[in-house]
Amino acid sequence: MRSLFSTIFLLAFFLWTGLAAARAGCVTSQCHAGFTEKRPTHPAEAECSSCHLDPEDKHAGGGGEPPALHEDMCVACHDTVLAHRYPHSPVTRSSCHLCHDPHGDMARKLLPAGYSDKTFINYSDEAYRLCFSCHKRDLLMFPDTSYSTGFRHGTVNLHYLHVNKANRGRSCKLCHEMHGAEQPKMMAAAVSFGNWRMPVNFRITENGGSCSPGCHETRQYDRRATAAAGRPAGGQTN
Ligand code: HEC
Ligand code: HEC
Ligand code: HEC
Ligand code: HEC
Ligand code: HEC
Repeated sequence: MRSLFSTIFLLAFFLWTGLAAARAGCVTSQCHAGFTEKRPTHPAEAECSSCHLDPEDKHAGGGGEPPALHEDMCVACHDTVLAHRYPHSPVTRSSCHLCHDPHGDMARKLLPAGYSDKTFINYSDEAYRLCFSCHKRDLLMFPDTSYSTGFRHGTVNLHYLHVNKANRGRSCKLCHEMHGAEQPKMMAAAVSFGNWRMPVNFRITENGGSCSPGCHETRQYDRRATAAAGRPAGGQTN
C-alpha cells in the first residue's frame, strides 16, 4: 500500500515538474509573468518552445526580441491551409503570424482588429484594415477607375459597387477565400447564406470574368467595355 502511494506521488511529482520545466525558461516571476493567464498561447497550454526556438538562449539577438520561431509551428497542425490550387501569395508555412497573433483571441480566430468575419458589413475604412495593411485601399475607393482594380467593367469599379456601401456592403469574404482557392483570384467556390451554400461559378476571361451565383443571373465584366456600355451585362446589382 505504501509503495503504491509513493509511486502515485512520484508520478504526479514528475508530471508537475515536467510541465513546469516546459515553461520555466520563459515564464518566471521576472519574465513574462502572468503571460499565460493574461495572454493565452494557442493552442492552450502549448509550450513556449513549441514555437519559439531556443528559449533558453535568453534572446541571443539582443534588443529584447523574442527568440526566432519554428518554421512549421502552425502547419504542423493546420496543413490544409496550404492545400490550394491558387494560393494567396503571402500564405506560406512560415507566414501565418503576418495575419494571426498566436497570443491573440481565439474567439476572433487570432486575428487582429481590422478584420470581421461577417459577410455583410456597413463599409468603414477600419473594417478591412488587415487587408489594407498590404493592399492599396484604392481598389474600392472610387466608383470609376481605369487602373486601381481588375474587378471593373469598363471603368465601373465593381469592388466599389459591392463593398463600399454605407448599408450592408459585401465583405471580402463573400467572394474571396483568405488562404487560397480552387478558382483563380482566390474566388470562393461557394458562399454561405445561413444554411445554404450558394455556388459562385466564377470564370476568368481574357479581359474580365463572369459569375453565376444564386443571387443574380450570370454576369460578365469586361475591362475593355466602353463607358457607354454602362453597368455589367445582366442589369442591376441586388
Ligand atoms: C503557437 C506558437 C506559439 C507559442 C506556443 C508561443 N508563442 Fe510567443 N509568439 C509566437 C509568434 C508567432 C510570435 C510573433 C508574433 C508577431 O510577430 O506578430 C510570438 C511573440 C511573442 C512575444 C513578443 C511579442 C508579443 O506578442 O508580446 C513574446 C514575449 C512571446 N511570444 C512569449 C511567449 C511565451 C512566454 C510563450 C509560452 C508561455 C509563448 N510565447 C508561446 C508564437 C508562439
Ligand atoms: C498542436 C496543434 C496546433 C498548433 C501547433 C496550432 N494549432 Fe491552431 N488550432 C488547433 C486546434 C485543435 C484548433 C481547434 C480549436 C481549439 O483550439 O479548440 C485550432 C484552431 C485555430 C484557429 C481558429 C479556428 C476557428 O475556427 O475559430 C486558428 C485561427 C488557428 N488555430 C491558427 C493557428 C496558428 C496561426 C498557429 C501557429 C501560430 C496554430 N494555429 C498552431 C491546433 C493547433
Ligand atoms: C493574409 C492573411 C492570412 C495569413 C497569412 C494566414 N491567414 Fe489564416 N485566416 C485569415 C483570415 C482573414 C481568416 C478568417 C476567415 C474567415 O473570415 O472565416 C483566417 C482563418 C484561419 C483559420 C480558421 C479556419 C478557416 O480556415 O477559416 C485557421 C485554422 C487559420 N486561418 C490558420 C492559418 C495558418 C496555419 C496560416 C499559415 C499557414 C494562416 N492561417 C495564414 C488570414 C490569414
Ligand atoms: C501580408 C500581406 C497581405 C495581407 C495582410 C493580405 N494580402 Fe492579399 N495579397 C498579398 C500579395 C503579396 C498578393 C499577390 C500580389 C498582388 O496581387 O498584389 C496578394 C493577392 C491577393 C489577391 C489576388 C489573388 C490573385 O490571384 O491575383 C486577393 C483577392 C487578395 N490578395 C485578397 C486579400 C484579402 C481579402 C485580404 C484581407 C483578409 C488580404 N488579401 C490580405 C499580400 C497580402
Ligand atoms: C463581389 C465579389 C467580390 C468582393 C466582395 C471582393 N472582391 Fe476582390 N475581386 C473580385 C474579383 C472577381 C476579382 C478578380 C478581378 C480580375 O478579373 O482580375 C477580385 C480581385 C481582387 C484583388 C486583385 C487586384 C484587383 O483589384 O484586381 C484584390 C487584392 C482583391 N480583390 C481584394 C479584395 C478585398 C480586400 C476585398 C474586401 C474589401 C474584396 N476584394 C472584395 C471579387 C470580389
